[in-house]
Amino acid sequence: MIPMVDLKVQLQRLRPEIDAALSEVLDNTHFILGPNVQAFEQEAAEYLGVRHAIGCASGTDALHLALLAAGIGPGDEVITPAFTFIATAEAIRYVGARPVFVDIEPDTFNLDVASVEAAITPKTRAILPVHLFGQPADMPALMELARQHDLLVIEDCAQSFGADIDSKMTGGIGLAGCHSFFPSKNLGAYGDGGMVTTNDDAVAERVRILRNHGSKARYYHDVIGYNSRLDEMQAAILRVKLKHIDEFNKGRRRAAHAYSEALRDVVTPPHENGQGTHVYHQYTLLSDRRDDIQQALQAADIACAVYYPVPLHQQKVFAGDCAGLRLPVTEDVSERCLSLPIFPELTDAQITRIVETIRGALA
Ligand SMILES: Cc1ncc(COP(=O)(O)O)c(C=O)c1O
Repeated sequence: MIPMVDLKVQLQRLRPEIDAALSEVLDNTHFILGPNVQAFEQEAAEYLGVRHAIGCASGTDALHLALLAAGIGPGDEVITPAFTFIATAEAIRYVGARPVFVDIEPDTFNLDVASVEAAITPKTRAILPVHLFGQPADMPALMELARQHDLLVIEDCAQSFGADIDSKMTGGIGLAGCHSFFPSKNLGAYGDGGMVTTNDDAVAERVRILRNHGSKARYYHDVIGYNSRLDEMQAAILRVKLKHIDEFNKGRRRAAHAYSEALRDVVTPPHENGQGTHVYHQYTLLSDRRDDIQQALQAADIACAVYYPVPLHQQKVFAGDCAGLRLPVTEDVSERCLSLPIFPELTDAQITRIVETIRGALA
């Protein structure tokens, strides 16, 4: 079996470092907002080149807390893609704002800047781009558009840890960046975890308060907050993994380039826009014969997945917001996209087997 992500092979390699880090947490018993959370926040901020990194309980919470800290709420519209995981739009709803779904570029699957511009209304407060599958959205163009219309930009970096554009890391370009440490992510914990990054001192302060019951000083509560702290054990694990993130992303890029090289003549491989670094959280190709490829891979005991089969504007939960909305590129891509196994340790032999199975299906 070749899985979408093999977490075991990486754990095997890192096991001594992980065991030592976890033992240390058990020994010091400082389980909530302890020294590892603090150190990880500093190390992550340094790696990403931002002033502040604030750990929280998940990527979904990072989006929620960042939107709250940015002051987005009822009556506001937030422009975002429909071709993303539900959490992006859930968070917009959590704060009482309305997600306005717009179309994507056909090659990168990221927000189409002209469609964003066409969707701006007097109620628009923010743009929420997703750096989908690990490739940065066109941040220079989106930031310029936001500047012209006085809008905030909040980045969904759940899939893009370590990706950069214009020499800036994703998560340090807009007002805030929202990261996920879900186990399969490029920087994955061994449980849930998330983080907000920002260069804005006031936003950082608000996120810090909101993630911990609205309190700055213990037992003094200024606002209604949440229990959304990054777990100390997860922070200890993430500190180990952060040291290896460039090597992990390099491994993903190597595997992706090998796939593209070997499949270019039979499918549409992912497009790198050349503006920055694609860190391949997913390797997602397009094919009119997706079903044939899926069947052959399944028969060969190779995993594959459709991210995302139903775009958000066609989900039941958003039916009220999206009646009659058509997003032709999004709809076309969701019918033809297929993601292949990708992780840093994918071997050349595994890649060859996957490629041969796909070529066999399409022959
Ligand atoms: C694009 C996107 N946004 C947000 C999230 C939410 O992250 P989490 O699962 O850590 O809550 C995810 C991943 O699951 C994601 O892929």
